[in-house]
Amino acid sequence: MWAPAKVNLFLEVLAKRRDGYHELETLMVAVDLYDTLVFQEEPSGEIQFHCDDATVPRGSENLVVRSALAIRQAVSRQNLGASIWLQKRIPTRAGLGGGSSDAAATLWALNELWHIGWPVDQLAQLGAQIGSDVPFFFHTPMAVGRGRGERVEPVPLAQRIHLVLVCPPEGVSTREVFERLPVPRRHRSIEPLVRGLEKGNVRTLEERLFNRLESTARQLCPSIAPRHEALQATKLAGPLVTGSGSGMFGLARSRSVAIQAAMRLRERFPGQVHVLRSTAQ
Ligand code: C5P
Repeated sequence: MWAPAKVNLFLEVLAKRRDGYHELETLMVAVDLYDTLVFQEEPSGEIQFHCDDATVPRGSENLVVRSALAIRQAVSRQNLGASIWLQKRIPTRAGLGGGSSDAAATLWALNELWHIGWPVDQLAQLGAQIGSDVPFFFHTPMAVGRGRGERVEPVPLAQRIHLVLVCPPEGVSTREVFERLPVPRRHRSIEPLVRGLEKGNVRTLEERLFNRLESTARQLCPSIAPRHEALQATKLAGPLVTGSGSGMFGLARSRSVAIQAAMRLRERFPGQVHVLRSTAQ
């Protein structure tokens, strides 16, 4: 299974909720940077998890393991076992939703492997309990997220979008960004952006890129500023932090513009620059 990353093209915070979460409006798009997962039935009935990245936790704090346990519990069949291998390519703590995407892929794959037969909406609902971003990955390539981000509505994307992503080596904790965030009194609306996209006007994106979490992410992660300035010096639209950072991106009008900008950025930030495009419908 291929589990794509996402970037947030728009993210506004409407309110802080009583349960500690924040009410959001966000536009997300899946991009062609993938983790890969392999699933095999495990006759012992255990959930075994293997990962090529030693920094990824192995226990129930891992979203892959948590997803496997959650779906098994939901169907009350504790004898179902699986061996799961995860190859990690999506940078972590970068606002790219890698853990959430892995969780969605796990729910999808185990639903097949174990012949559970749930429809996508039911998988997405269970995913929402695992993480706010998980349901989005059942509605790629593009969708608006409301509520905690888990109430997802697909948005049409008339053509693929191109972007250059820069990820500093230091990550950011999403929880910490939300804890420090001053909730704004006046809100930017996502509607003009969604209306533009519904009319097939992909250029609307360039004018309406916005992320309310950006300034707080910058305060927590000093590595963002120099990369942000370097992206600004290119011909790309933006730049903008994705999610709660620390990854950031600029939009390009074509693949070749993206490649040219990336070549310059790589001289300064080797190993941190990705040329990406949105995934297929
Ligand atoms: O839902 P998820 O576990 O991915 O969220 C991680 C953390 O980010 C939460 O514990 C919460 O502190 C914060 N968060 C938030 N409002 C959201 C989404 C996440 O405050 N809409």
